[in-house]
This record gives sequence, C-alpha cells and structure tokens, in this order.
Amino acid sequence: MTLRPDILFSPLALRHITLPNRFVRSATYEGWGDVQGVPRPELGELYLALARGGVGTIVTGFAFISRQGRAMQPGQCGMDQDDKTGPWAHIVTRVRDEGRGTRLFMQIAHTGRQTLSRITGQPVVGASSRRCTYFRQPVRMLGDDELRVIVNDFACAAYRARQAGFDGVQVHAGHGYLIHQFLSPWTNTRKDRWAEPTLLLQEVIIAIRRKCGDDFPILVKISAGEDTVPGLGVDDALQTVVCLEALSVDAVEVSYGTMEYALNIMRGGIPVDVALQVNPLYNRYPALVRHMWKRFCFPAYQAGIIPFAEEYNVPAAVRIKRQSSLPVIPVGGMRTLESMLDCITTRGLDAVALCRPLICQPNLPQQIAAGEFSRSRCINCNLCTVYCDSDRPLYCHL
Ligand SMILES: Cc1cc2nc3c(=O)[nH]c(=O)nc-3n(C[C@H](O)[C@H](O)[C@H](O)COP(=O)(O)O)c2cc1C
Repeated sequence: MTLRPDILFSPLALRHITLPNRFVRSATYEGWGDVQGVPRPELGELYLALARGGVGTIVTGFAFISRQGRAMQPGQCGMDQDDKTGPWAHIVTRVRDEGRGTRLFMQIAHTGRQTLSRITGQPVVGASSRRCTYFRQPVRMLGDDELRVIVNDFACAAYRARQAGFDGVQVHAGHGYLIHQFLSPWTNTRKDRWAEPTLLLQEVIIAIRRKCGDDFPILVKISAGEDTVPGLGVDDALQTVVCLEALSVDAVEVSYGTMEYALNIMRGGIPVDVALQVNPLYNRYPALVRHMWKRFCFPAYQAGIIPFAEEYNVPAAVRIKRQSSLPVIPVGGMRTLESMLDCITTRGLDAVALCRPLICQPNLPQQIAAGEFSRSRCINCNLCTVYCDSDRPLYCHL
C-alpha cells in the first residue's frame, strides 16, 4: 500500500501561531554553548540543516534560565542574561533568512535537583529535600521568595527569547526538572501553598504572558509517567493539561520520565561502557570501582529500564487528547512513516515530535516528500544520549 504523506505537510493552526507542517524537532541538547552558555555559531548550522530539510518547527535544546538552574552538560546554552540575546538573535536571523519559514521555539528550563552544585556554584535546590538517586546531591527545599525569583527568571528568559526573534518558548515541565518536581507526588511533599502540584507551572505561564504579551506562543512539555511509587501518571498529566487549557497555552508535548531513570525517557540501547568513560558522575572513579559497579550494581539499574517500543508515549498522548481541547504532540519512538501518519489520521494527534531520528537524518521530512523514507535509520543505540554528558557536541555515532 502506498502511504500518502500529505497530511504531514499540512499547516497546523495553534492559538497564537500556525506551524508550517506537522514535523516538530523535539528539544535536543546540542552541546554548542560556550562556558558561559552563549550559543556558538555552529548551532545555527545545525538549525539550518533541519530547516532546509523540511522540519516545520524546531525546539532548541533546554536553555537554562538562571545559573542555579543550569544542567550538568558542559555545552548547555542559556538565556539567563541580557548579553545572550544578541548571539541567539544572530542564529535566529540566519535561520529566518535562509530557512523555509521554519518556526523556532526556545525550550526554557530550571533543573532543580537534577544538577550538581559544582556546576551551579551554589547549593542544589528542589521542590523538597528529596535527593535524586542519579545526581546524589543534598537538596535544599526552595522557599516562597526564591520561587518568586524563579518564576520571574522564566519570564525574563522568555522575554529575551522574544527579543531574539524566537516565535515562542517551550516551558520544560517534564523529565524531572524543577517544574516536574512540583507536579510529582514523589518530590512535592510540601505542606505550604506550593503543595498544589500545578501552581509553579501556572505562575510561570502567567508571568510569561505578563512579560511577553498575550500573543506570544507558549508550548509546554510534560512527562505523563515516571518510574517511582508514588509517581506521576497519566491522570496527573490530565490535571496539568486542564490547567494549561485554562491558561490558553498553544500546545502540549507528551513525553515520559525523569533523570532518575534517564534512559526511560529515551529507551533503547544502554551503552554502559561509554557512559562509565564519559559521564562525570562515573568517570572520576578509578577503573576498578567502575568495573565493580558494572558487575554488581548495573544489573539492578538495567532491570529498571523499560525496553524500546515504537510510539511509546502515544497511548498517553491519545488519552490526553481525548479529554482536552489543546493540540497534543507526542514524542518518543516514532520511527516509521506509517506510525507518523497513524498518529495524526487515526489517533487524532496534531503533530509528531522527533528527536533521535532528526539527529540521524535532519532532512527526514524532505525524504518523506520525495518518497524516499519509510523507516528511520536510527537504531536507538543511545550513543548520542550518553555523549551529551561529555564535552562533545551532538552527533549521530552511526
Ligand atoms: C541527545 C538527546 C538530547 C536530548 N535533549 C533534550 C532536551 O534538551 N530537552 C528535552 O525536553 N528533551 C531532550 N531529549 C529527549 C527528547 O526530546 C525526546 O523526548 C526523546 O529522545 C524521545 O524521542 P525520540 O524517540 O524521537 O528520540 C533529548 C534526547 C536525546 C537523545
């Protein structure tokens, strides 16, 4: 049977913006930031390749909104200071001038407990003092005044993104980062007004609207599941989406998981030897200790990893779509033209977000249009994933 991909190339009208087609490059850490988090020009080349390859919407890798919310990855870009607006504007202008009407969104994030104090230069903070088993840092519970500062930091980062020419922002409320920590019963054990899981997210959206105007598009990325008990599930995600609907955000992207089991966000291969070599959480230990870890601790870690399956977040996205009027975009495991079409035509979802397939083939939409694509070349080896923790920029290792 010949699949007619036309629907994938049809525009998608969101509340405040129209996306040129249904291909969304899901936020992907690129590693092209300098030590201060200023984006290097090579990042523009990467976005241009995606734009020329037919990707309608590009979401940047997660950009930190403040030094406190910076991640462990050494090449992470930021939007925490006014002097970063210029370098970002340069990149956006290049893509606008030479791209094909591609929409650009900046993903803005605060890591909360999922970072290291030697990176941020200050104590690690979170919704509660519960430590992350991956980063193993002591965590200080954030106070009311500090949370107000963080809300303002999100708004200022969004404002800078608007000044730089971005079409909108994506608020990172998933993958165990700070906003997710408030949404999750595992980490939000508070007794004050911030015990309301969605309060921080709501305040962030309201502050962005105030600072950037009602017409500035906002996407939100959420996790609709995680690996702890108690943990956030699809019903919690639905509650979040009800709030987002009331706040008229433009669309929600549905993902999974936290950094506690990072490979459950991605799924697929577990390149443990490379991780032990390049990940600063492990490579500071002597080879013998790493060897022992692999032998005795790794099997237990591995047992908690969910195997890769195609379209693994689509069932959760469909449930959310059925109960909300917001456009819903699934991410995770879309590897065939058939599954991309199925998401939109049969399942009623609005677009498809892709990460690893576009690292592998940035011109994937163009290949579909030319009838030259049926399955992604990505084999989910996750080498791109584990090398994020090294000082190498993003690339496909195949
Ligand atoms: C190398 C790499 C970097 C990533 N960086 C981010 C990021 O900055 N922000 C984010 O929300 N998700 C990030 N993700 C997760 C992806 O956006 C996506 O949710 C996940 O890879 C599943 O989609 P896929 O099967 O199409 O790869 C990253 C994934 C990979 C492999």
